[in-house]
Amino acid sequence: MIFTAVALAVAAVSLPFASAQVCDTNKTILLDQSGAVRKASIHQGALARYNITYSSAQGWIDDRKAWFYNLGAHSTPSNATPTGSIVASIPILVPYYPNGTRAGNSIINLLPCDPGYSDVWQVNLVIVPPTYPLNAFTSAADVQTAAGNGSGVLVNATTILRNCPIVPFNSTVVDISGSTTALIPFYVLGWYQGVPVAYLDAGVVGTNVTNPVYHIGLANGTITDPAVFEGLTTPFWNLNAVTVPASVAGTNTLHSQAEIMAGKYSINTTSVIVNCPLSFVASPATNTSTTSATSASGTATASATGKPSGAGATRASVVMTLAMVGAVAFLLL
Ligand SMILES: *[C@@H]1O[C@H](CO)[C@@H](O)[C@H](O)[C@H]1NC(C)=O
Ligand SMILES: *[C@@H]1O[C@H](CO)[C@@H](O)[C@H](O)[C@H]1NC(C)=O
Ligand SMILES: *[C@@H]1O[C@H](CO)[C@@H](O)[C@H](O)[C@H]1NC(C)=O
Ligand SMILES: *[C@@H]1O[C@H](CO)[C@@H](O)[C@H](O)[C@H]1NC(C)=O
Ligand SMILES: *[C@@H]1O[C@H](CO)[C@@H](O)[C@H](O)[C@H]1NC(C)=O
Ligand SMILES: *[C@@H]1O[C@H](CO)[C@@H](O)[C@H](O)[C@H]1NC(C)=O
Ligand SMILES: *[C@@H]1O[C@H](CO)[C@@H](O)[C@H](O)[C@H]1NC(C)=O
Ligand SMILES: *[C@@H]1O[C@H](CO)[C@@H](O)[C@H](O)[C@H]1NC(C)=O
Ligand SMILES: *[C@@H]1O[C@H](CO)[C@@H](O)[C@H](O)[C@H]1NC(C)=O
Ligand SMILES: *[C@@H]1O[C@H](CO)[C@@H](O)[C@H](O)[C@H]1NC(C)=O
Repeated sequence: MIFTAVALAVAAVSLPFASAQVCDTNKTILLDQSGAVRKASIHQGALARYNITYSSAQGWIDDRKAWFYNLGAHSTPSNATPTGSIVASIPILVPYYPNGTRAGNSIINLLPCDPGYSDVWQVNLVIVPPTYPLNAFTSAADVQTAAGNGSGVLVNATTILRNCPIVPFNSTVVDISGSTTALIPFYVLGWYQGVPVAYLDAGVVGTNVTNPVYHIGLANGTITDPAVFEGLTTPFWNLNAVTVPASVAGTNTLHSQAEIMAGKYSINTTSVIVNCPLSFVASPATNTSTTSATSASGTATASATGKPSGAGATRASVVMTLAMVGAVAFLLL
């Protein structure tokens, strides 16, 4: 099955908003924010050997500055409508010993490009007998077999959903908001059908209902202004493209959904769901000189310092770099 990547828009401003993905029958993965083609096959022993630096970028939400990570458009909406969707969730198996200690890395059974893949993982606890070594299980099939053959392995489904996109090994996360309380997703190793994979744990997803986000740009698709988000309940957003006249393009004056609607601009809806957890949302601007900042609420409840429950985590190495500048290709499957 070949998916053709279609260049929808080329950003003229720094806006690492949507990443690209190309799939083929060998599960070739391309996960990139820069537009460069980077490939590796999991059947050659690695998901991808090309790390990505996921840097936050600044957008707007309800007239407040908001910094977001673009973790890509890899999640299948379970009902794709242009204006609001349900994002699907798929199981992740999280092994524990009966005493509550982790019994190994988490196990998944779908990768980006697999039909039905989603970045939203429903946590399934796997209770492993204490005599089993760490990482006794590296595939979902082995867990299911063991759970069914009376060996004392139990699978306990929870309703906890976590935002855990699969990423190339050694990928890093960088936040440029400057806030000490910003959300920084954890880099975590897991298992897929006996081989290691890496993912980011960007925290709990409170609802499977998406919110809208607006690309702002010219009719030819060139993005000219920071993205505008609406709603703080989920890191998953329905992508809409707003066409503004040249007199508005690049002025960075649209800061809320209400302002976009008031402008009566042409809006193209899409069925694309982008995974963009907010790292930080600034306080509403005031006309006084001091604006104290507050951390993002709602979008992700695991903080960089908090210990995420369920999927387990190691702190990502954080490298402060400059925001990505230059052209960013937005590719749509
Ligand atoms: C998958 O990759 C292997 C190893 O590179 C190659 O030999 C094989 O032809 C590929 N299969 C397909 C269907 O592309
Ligand atoms: C929990 O059980 C595992 C497996 O028997 C053991 O290796 C680990 O040390 C235990 N942890 C604690 C805190 O008792
Ligand atoms: C149960 O299945 C697991 C996984 O395949 C296997 O390792 C284990 O030996 C089996 N135990 C029994 C009692 O069959
Ligand atoms: C499943 O896990 C939940 C949350 O830890 C716990 O409350 C519940 O008792 C567990 N159920 C079983 C059957 O182990
Ligand atoms: C991660 O990077 C280190 C060097 O920084 C390298 O030795 C290691 O092989 C890399 N891991 C993977 C899975 O690519
Ligand atoms: C990421 O890849 C680059 C280029 O391959 C390499 O120089 C760098 O050390 C890698 N970073 C990590 C954290 O492994
Ligand atoms: C979405 O969430 C609701 C409420 O938790 C749940 O009942 C429903 O099954 C979910 N839908 C999908 C497709 O996961
Ligand atoms: C879209 O139009 C603008 C303004 O004319 C131009 O600068 C830009 O290069 C165009 N982009 C594309 C992809 O054609
Ligand atoms: C919006 O849709 C129209 C009609 O399909 C198309 O011509 C136009 O380029 C689209 N604009 C953007 C910004 O995607
Ligand atoms: C605050 O500043 C904005 C422009 O930045 C202006 O529109 C608004 O009227 C001002 N509000 C007050 C209360 O001065």
